[in-house]
Amino acid sequence: MYRKFIIFLGPLFLLLGCALNTVQSNNEIDFKVKQLLSEMSLEEKIGQMTQIDFSVIAAELNSENPIDQRKLEDAILKYHVGSILNAPQTPNNQAQTVAVWRNVLSSIQAVTGQSRLKIPVIYGIDAIHGATYTKNSVLFPQAINMAATFNTDLSFKEGEITARELRVAGLQWNFSPVMDLGRQPLWPRLWETYGEDVHLATAMGTSYIEGHQGDDFSAPNKALTCLKHYVGYSFPINGKDRTPAWIGERMLREYFLPTFEAAIKAGSPTIMVNSAEVDGIPGHANYQYLTTILRDELGFKGFTVSDWEDIKRLYTRDKLAANEKEAVKVAVMAGVDMSMVPFDYSFYDLLLELVNTGEVPLARIDQAVARILTVKYQAGLFNPPKPLLPEAENFATELATDTNRQAARESIILAKNDQHILPLKKSANILIAGPNANLLSVMNGGWTLTWQGDNESLYPKDKLTIYKALQNKSLGKVTYLENSVLDKQAALEASKNVDVIVLCLGEKPYTETVGNIGSLNLEATQIKLANAMLATGKPVILIMTGGRPRIITEQADLASAVILGFLPGMEGGEAIADILYGDYNPNGKLPISYPRDTNDIVLYDHKPIETYESNTYHPLYAFGHGLGYTSFKTSDLKLASDKFNMGDSIELSVAVKNTGLISGKETVLVYLNDVAASVTRPSRQLKAFKKVELAAGQKQTLHFTLKPEDLSFIGVDLKRIIEPGEFKVMVGHETATFMLNKP
Ligand code: GLC
Repeated sequence: MYRKFIIFLGPLFLLLGCALNTVQSNNEIDFKVKQLLSEMSLEEKIGQMTQIDFSVIAAELNSENPIDQRKLEDAILKYHVGSILNAPQTPNNQAQTVAVWRNVLSSIQAVTGQSRLKIPVIYGIDAIHGATYTKNSVLFPQAINMAATFNTDLSFKEGEITARELRVAGLQWNFSPVMDLGRQPLWPRLWETYGEDVHLATAMGTSYIEGHQGDDFSAPNKALTCLKHYVGYSFPINGKDRTPAWIGERMLREYFLPTFEAAIKAGSPTIMVNSAEVDGIPGHANYQYLTTILRDELGFKGFTVSDWEDIKRLYTRDKLAANEKEAVKVAVMAGVDMSMVPFDYSFYDLLLELVNTGEVPLARIDQAVARILTVKYQAGLFNPPKPLLPEAENFATELATDTNRQAARESIILAKNDQHILPLKKSANILIAGPNANLLSVMNGGWTLTWQGDNESLYPKDKLTIYKALQNKSLGKVTYLENSVLDKQAALEASKNVDVIVLCLGEKPYTETVGNIGSLNLEATQIKLANAMLATGKPVILIMTGGRPRIITEQADLASAVILGFLPGMEGGEAIADILYGDYNPNGKLPISYPRDTNDIVLYDHKPIETYESNTYHPLYAFGHGLGYTSFKTSDLKLASDKFNMGDSIELSVAVKNTGLISGKETVLVYLNDVAASVTRPSRQLKAFKKVELAAGQKQTLHFTLKPEDLSFIGVDLKRIIEPGEFKVMVGHETATFMLNKP
């Protein structure tokens, strides 16, 4: 008995010890921050709030060392900057080797060592699908693709590998993940989101953070994340980047805040602010969002960083501030803790003036600087420098590359497969054509080796385009038709002796305003090419790559098969070839609704009014759509009861069977509908999903638990509530109903 008692107590002490440890370390950090703050001059404090682009400390472009030592000393010793961002050779940043990065970071550390208080610089970098700006890093499918995997384990691994590869180079702060919701398909950063659904984006984003940060982001193989772009940036009413979003507070709280709330709970210590404006207020001037909601409601303790030059732009673009000085005051007082200035020291100079004249209270500076220093302590930046992770076992490893290839495979959506034309025989003779057939950049998108990702010459020579990957695997003949501008006669000629045409269309890489477009319609030249190929009478397999769902309705109707590749990353070519030849059984599902027409933007979680009378949800391919080379059937949907009380969890089960002839993976999606409520409710909302692998004929029962908050919504008074009444749970073709009793 006694021994058992001790055994029981053991783990308890351990748990208590850990908890105490955390509390101590937080208290310890608080003490150190207070201590340091008390020693800092106003200039040193304001320097901590200043983030500059690498170009401010850059040497001449083609010099051996990318840093100009005098400019670096100016930045750190004169302006006391707290952070530097981006890669050398900006503004169109260029990926650097691990060795160059290590030199850059150690040069910065050396000058910091000469400063009075030796406060470390935190270096920020965009590493949104792997270590973007480190040569030969593992570059994953972009977020829209990771969402299409519906595989949170893969998202966790992506975070883990990205953090590790950043740390090999000495980098430690990643401006990722994007927690914006992709509900406007025209937006040129749709592909940087996890799609249109709150639950899916939350699941994928929090898994990424957990992998990236672990339990302690100061660990040598972990790194800090940065949630972006808080909040409502991704829903510009006209679809163009950095233009107004008109989002009412109820919609904000229902759709755009929950992913950030979950990611804050997952422990991300920094948040980047929305570059645009919501409801007439620029993100960087929005006290309600940045302080009342983010701090008082969501309890965020980390620090906020502005997006690119966006404090200045409160004056130069938004005309909200009468001058730059007022812009600094508005942003700092709204709740922006660090300014991505990024090209000069104007923020530093103006904020110094504002504090000295009492227009910005010193207390606000201390608050911002305390937040920044706290994160730097939590990141271990003040600790004596440790040797960096050895490159050999931690960078671009075979395991990481295999994980990347698996992610690419699971991220690709087989949208159509008439007469099971796919998979192809390896002996098939193929004509491959289209502007996206023989490029890597079209499968990676922006933030790849350079900001826009469009410098094909920088892409690794050992990675395969779709064409090269097919050629590699084929036992037949693969002819690549380089000329993408041809008429029907030429197409007939070219396709005379082939079994099938693989047509690769879509978009070139882009990000941010560079990618703004006026219509989702395909480019005219691509439509012409497609029609020529479709007119040959040969079976056409249409493969789309790019960041947005371009309109392919007519072409897809005539094609024998359609593959939606979006941006599957550096292993995308091999993954597409694996799928075309059946070496991999596709299982990706759409994380967005694929529109039938450029103005027909209705999302899966539409309101009843959107499908009333002649209104329909009738996308070309629906949210959650995705085929494979086997088939699955769900059945026996059961609820633990048909009545529940407020606060109950809803237990349910459903069977899923592989009714086909080969093994495969299937994601079972659980939707909920609140039948009647005081605010109109979506016809359905994804509330849970599970991905399983089943052998041919295998059947498995899956169990799900819906938590009380899964039944909640933002009520008339803008508070999250749950109302009693009828609810429906929908899985596959089945629906089960339950009543939630009045309290
Ligand atoms: C850009 C982007 C943001 C990125 C930042 C730093 O303007 O909006 O996503 O992290 O600048 O590169």
